[in-house]
Amino acid sequence: MIQRLNSGRRILTYPAVHPCEAIAPQTLLSSLVALTHNICSYKSKFIASNKRNALEAVRQIGVVRVFLEEVRDGLPGLPSSAVLSFSELHLTFQKVQFLLEDCTRDDARVWMLMNAEQVANQFRILIRAMATALDVLPLDLIHVAVEVKEQIELVMRQARRSKFEIDRNDRRVVGAVKSVLIGFEKGVYPDKSDLKRVLDYVGFKRWSQCEKEVRFLDSEIGFENLRVVGLLSSLKGLLCYCRCVMFETVDGLPGPRPETKSCSSEVLHCLNIEDFRCPISLEIMADPVTIGTGHSYDRSSIKKWFRAGKPICPKTGEKVKNMEVVPNLALKRLIQQYCSDNGIAYGDSGRWNRDIGRTKLAGSLAAEQAMKMVAEFLSQSLEAGTPEEKNKAAYEIRLLSKTSIFNRSCLVEAGVVPHLLKLLSVADSQTQENAIAGLLNLSKHSKGKAEIVENGGVDLIVDLLREGLKVEACQHAAGTLFYLASIDEYRILIGENPRAIPALRELIKNGSHSGKKNALVAIFGLVMHPANHTRVLTAGVVPLLFDMLTSFDSEVLVTDALAILATLAEKPEGTVAISCCKALDSIVGILNSSTSRSTKEFCVSLLLALCVNGGHNMVTLLVKSPSLMGSLYSQLSEGTSRARKRAGSLIKILHEFHERRSSGPVTRVLPQERFVHVR
Ligand SMILES: *[C@@H]1O[C@H](CO)[C@@H](O)[C@H](O)[C@H]1NC(C)=O
Ligand SMILES: *[C@@H]1O[C@H](CO)[C@@H](O)[C@H](O)[C@H]1NC(C)=O
Ligand SMILES: *[C@@H]1O[C@H](CO)[C@@H](O)[C@H](O)[C@H]1NC(C)=O
Ligand SMILES: *[C@@H]1O[C@H](CO)[C@@H](O)[C@H](O)[C@H]1NC(C)=O
Ligand SMILES: *[C@@H]1O[C@H](CO)[C@@H](O)[C@H](O)[C@H]1NC(C)=O
Repeated sequence: MIQRLNSGRRILTYPAVHPCEAIAPQTLLSSLVALTHNICSYKSKFIASNKRNALEAVRQIGVVRVFLEEVRDGLPGLPSSAVLSFSELHLTFQKVQFLLEDCTRDDARVWMLMNAEQVANQFRILIRAMATALDVLPLDLIHVAVEVKEQIELVMRQARRSKFEIDRNDRRVVGAVKSVLIGFEKGVYPDKSDLKRVLDYVGFKRWSQCEKEVRFLDSEIGFENLRVVGLLSSLKGLLCYCRCVMFETVDGLPGPRPETKSCSSEVLHCLNIEDFRCPISLEIMADPVTIGTGHSYDRSSIKKWFRAGKPICPKTGEKVKNMEVVPNLALKRLIQQYCSDNGIAYGDSGRWNRDIGRTKLAGSLAAEQAMKMVAEFLSQSLEAGTPEEKNKAAYEIRLLSKTSIFNRSCLVEAGVVPHLLKLLSVADSQTQENAIAGLLNLSKHSKGKAEIVENGGVDLIVDLLREGLKVEACQHAAGTLFYLASIDEYRILIGENPRAIPALRELIKNGSHSGKKNALVAIFGLVMHPANHTRVLTAGVVPLLFDMLTSFDSEVLVTDALAILATLAEKPEGTVAISCCKALDSIVGILNSSTSRSTKEFCVSLLLALCVNGGHNMVTLLVKSPSLMGSLYSQLSEGTSRARKRAGSLIKILHEFHERRSSGPVTRVLPQERFVHVR
C-alpha cells in the first residue's frame, strides 16, 4: 500500500492518498510500520539544508514506530477509534516521506536550501498533524508496555511544542547566495571563496553535481509562475557559472549528454528558422516558391511584388526574364518537418515568433549577467588556457550552445568563435570534436555564421571535413557547412572552395548514418544556388545518390537524396547526368512502393523534371514502365497537393505521347539518346 507514488511527482508536493475505509486494521498497521521504517532510513542520508528539522522529525517518528510495532505484535482487536487515528498517521507519514525524499535529493540541494523556510514550516505542520492524529488514539484501550506508553506520551507533547525553525546556518548561506545573485545583477564577478562556501555547504564537490542541478532547475522552469521562474533562472545562472569556473575537470559525463532525439531529428536541428522566413514579409513561408534568379520567397509576397510591376529579384536586384515561380517543394518539406518536430502548427508563424522570443530571454537579470560572465571566462580560457582548459572550455561551449539562443549570442559576443576555429587543427581528437560541435550550434546564430566566415572558417571547416580525427568531427563539420549554406553569400563561398563538394561526397560515400545525412543536407543547401549544380555534378555525387536509392538502407536518406536529385533535374545538365545512371527503374520502383508521401512527391517531381528537360526519349523510356501509370493515378487521389498537380502534368505528357505515336510515326529520338540507358 505504500508503493511509491513519486514517479513524476514534482518537488515539494505531497500527493498522499487516504487508506481506504474498509481496510483491515492489521493491514493498515503493518503498512504504517513499514512506512515508519522507511522514514527512519533517511537518518543516514546526506541532508544539505534543514538537517536539524529533518532529523528531529525522524527521531519522533522513530519513537512512534516502536509503539506501533508493539501494538502490531500485541493482542489482536483494535478499537475502531484507533483505526481512525492510524489512517490519519498513515496520510501524514506519506507526506513526511515525500518531504524527506526532497531533502535528500542530490540534484536539488540549492533549490531546497533556497526554500528552507517553506520546508521548515512543512516539517512543523506535518509533525503537528502527527500529534493531532495521536491525540485521538484511545491509549487506555491499547495493550502495550508502560515505558512505551510513557515514551509516546512524551513524543506527543514534544510534537505539539517543537518549533521547527529555519536553521541559522541555512539562513546564512541563503544570504550568501542572494548576495552573489545581486552581484550578478550589477555585473560584479563573485568572489571564488563565497562560491566555494556555498558549494561546500550543499556538498557539491564535482562538476557533474552542478550540472545535475542545472538540469533539475531547467526542468522545473516549465511548471512555475513568473516570479519563481526568475529565481530558478538566477540559480541556474549561478550554477552554470560555478560549473564553468570552479571545477577544472568534467567528471561523470564523458561525452556529450545522451541524445534523446533520433538521428533524423538531430539533423533537423541543423535548420535555421531564419532560412524559413520570406525575405519580403519576414514571416515563415507557408508556400515557398523559387523565381528565375534562384531565390525563394513566399508565394503570396512575391506575387504581390510582381503585381506591383517590379520585374526584379527583391534580394539581388537582378532583372527577371519572366515572372514565373516554381514551388520550392524541398524547402517546404523542411519547414513542415521542422514545425512538426517542434510541435508548431504549420503556417502558424505568430506562435513560432513568440516561442523564439521566449528563448531569447534569460529569465532574470542575474541569469543574463551570469551567462555573460561565463562567456567572458570561457573566451579567456580558450585564448590563454592550458590545453586541458581549452578542451574543457570547448566542452562547456558545446553544452551551453545547445538550445539557448541567448547563450549562443553571449558566446558569440564574447568572441569565442575565432578561438574555437583555432582549435580545429589541434592534435587532440576530443578537443577538436568539442570545438566543431560548439561551432556547429553557434553557426545557427546569424552573427555566429558571420564570425566563422570572416575568420576564414570555411576553409578550416572543409579541411576538418576531410581530415577530422574522429568521424563525429567530420559529421559536425558537414552540419556546420549546412548552416553556413543557408546564407546565399556563404553558399557561394563554400562552392568556390574546390575541396568542399568532393569532401561532402566522400562523407556520403563513407560516412556513418548521421554523417551521410549531414552531408546530404549540406549539398542540398549548396544546390539551392543554381551556379553550384555543375560542381555537384562533376564531383560525381549523382551516382552515389542513386546507390542510396537502391540500397534501401534508410527512408530518410532516400528522401534527402531524392530532394537533391529533384533540384538538380530542374536544369538540363542535371537531367543529362541523372539519365546516365540508368536509374529510372529505381525511381519508378520507389514511387510504387514507398510509404512516405514526401518521398513519393519527390519522385513525381523528379520524373516530371526529367521529362520536361529530357524530352522525347525520356518519355519513350517512361511509357514502357508497367507500374508508373498506376502510381501516378493513385498520386492524383492520395498525393500531397503538389504531387497531385505534378502527377497530372506527367500523365498529360505521357498521354500526348501515346496519342502522337498512334497517329503517326515517332519523331526521331533526340541526340542525348546515347546518355540514356534503361534496364
Ligand atoms: C544556457 O545553457 C544552459 C545549458 O548548460 C541552460 O541550462 C540554460 O538554460 C541556458 N541559458 C539560457 C538563458 O537559456
Ligand atoms: C546542437 O544542438 C542540438 C539542440 O539544439 C543538439 O541536439 C545537438 O546535439 C547539438 N550538436 C552538437 C554537435 O553538440
Ligand atoms: C572509410 O571509413 C573507414 C572508417 O569508417 C576508414 O577506415 C576508411 O579509411 C575510409 N575510407 C576512405 C576511402 O576514406
Ligand atoms: C558555385 O557558385 C558560385 C557562385 O555563382 C561560383 O562562383 C562557383 O564557381 C560555383 N561553383 C561551381 C564550379 O559550380
Ligand atoms: C508495385 O508495388 C507492389 C507492392 O506495393 C508490388 O506488388 C508490385 O509488384 C510493384 N510493381 C512493380 C512493377 O514494381
